[in-house]
Amino acid sequence: MNKIDILIRGGKVVSPESTVEAAIAIVGERIVAIGDEALMPPAAQVIDATGKYVIPGAIDSHVHFRTPGYEYKEDWHTGTGAAALGGVTTVFEMPNTNPPTGTVAAMEQKIGIASRDAHVDFGIYGLLAENNIDQLADLAAAGAASFKCFMGNTFGNLPAPTDGAMLEGFEILARLGLRCTVHAENASIMARRQGKLEAAGRVDPLAHLAARPAIAAMEAVSRATLFAEWTGARLHIAHKSSRDGLYFVRDAKRRGVDVTVETCPQYLLLTSEQMKTMHGLAKVNPPIREPGHDVALWEALHDGTVDMIATDHAPHTIEEKRRDTIWNCECGFPGVQTQMPLMLTQVNAGRMTLNDYVRWACVNPARAWGLYPHKGVLQVGADADIVLVDMALERDIRDESLFSKSKISPWHGWRTTAGPVLTMVRGRVVAKDGALVGDRGWGRSVKATQQMAPAAPRNLEHTTESITAWRP
Ligand code: DOR
Ligand code: ZN
Repeated sequence: MNKIDILIRGGKVVSPESTVEAAIAIVGERIVAIGDEALMPPAAQVIDATGKYVIPGAIDSHVHFRTPGYEYKEDWHTGTGAAALGGVTTVFEMPNTNPPTGTVAAMEQKIGIASRDAHVDFGIYGLLAENNIDQLADLAAAGAASFKCFMGNTFGNLPAPTDGAMLEGFEILARLGLRCTVHAENASIMARRQGKLEAAGRVDPLAHLAARPAIAAMEAVSRATLFAEWTGARLHIAHKSSRDGLYFVRDAKRRGVDVTVETCPQYLLLTSEQMKTMHGLAKVNPPIREPGHDVALWEALHDGTVDMIATDHAPHTIEEKRRDTIWNCECGFPGVQTQMPLMLTQVNAGRMTLNDYVRWACVNPARAWGLYPHKGVLQVGADADIVLVDMALERDIRDESLFSKSKISPWHGWRTTAGPVLTMVRGRVVAKDGALVGDRGWGRSVKATQQMAPAAPRNLEHTTESITAWRP
């Protein structure tokens, strides 16, 4: 090796298994060597990481960047800029935009916008809905890195598909080998209960929780895992919020179902106690639950039932979050920029190790979406998606300092004791010391390098395609 582009020296390199002092050599977009600094060739640029930890960029499997359609809430510059500042180097973006990402035209439009504006790499979710089952394969060919099925209503009011359509969709995704993420809450239970609560005059913050009890999530998790097991479709459970139903996941994993699960900082760090005082601010779907669920979710991360930490970054305006009744407030809040400082603060508090964090925020999402070992890991040949972390960086989270257009979050005033100080995406520094330094358009779709394990469809003789092709 003659000369390298960048040498990151002096830091401690973290993987799920180890923390070792090592230098990282980068040429172009890739890591070309990791090891003793003395053995490294001369570099055009040296980044001093003395006193810092060097981790793979976080991969956030769940963000809403709102564009096209709701540009006033977020766009791809502000959304991915917030990601870069938060140490997130790849995002998977949800289809409840306008138009929803359920047609090839909408997919092409969104990939065009993201390619023009993104600061970090991205995967785009295609929508699995009642009326587009015949377009899922075309959506995948047009660039969908994954799919999203809204089993329960949430922002965008995309109707849940019928079970028949969902099962047929899973049959198709099983053949494609792509993972389907589900918003696992039972639509009809929630609609009926919300109707009764509204009729009874309940408008307080906990009415939102009462409308969306854990049974609604349990039922949907159980149905989705059953459909995944039958069809062989890969499944991902978004934003697991409750302890109930974890046993469905444990059992499905034991049976060999390819199911992964995410939870989010709000379910690990907040409870319904805060909902009482925060009114619409902490309203999110699924809801933040009673004390105790948080403890079980931590345990589930540690025992591997829950695989990863995502954010469900869901920006809305201040006005939309502060409306009169809980029903009129929008659901969700920004999170892509604050996830890493919040969770690293938990490392300092002793609730997990930095190695655990790398497993849950980097490695496991990369594996689930076929990005490993290009992403999620620091090793020779991998993309240089790298974050320098200062485990003694004390900051107060302030709404007005969020890069998102949404300047309102439940984390306002939270003290964090650690955080990212430099974010690199494929060899380019995109954020440094709290400032965005990269250019729009550097981020690109992960689809080109995505490599899912071979598809493993099951019960092929029973699929809709087989039974309709059969002739006596
Ligand atoms: O609270 C939420 N907000 N949950 C979701 O599932 C969707 C999200 C949004 O898009 O606002
Ligand atoms: Zn979401």
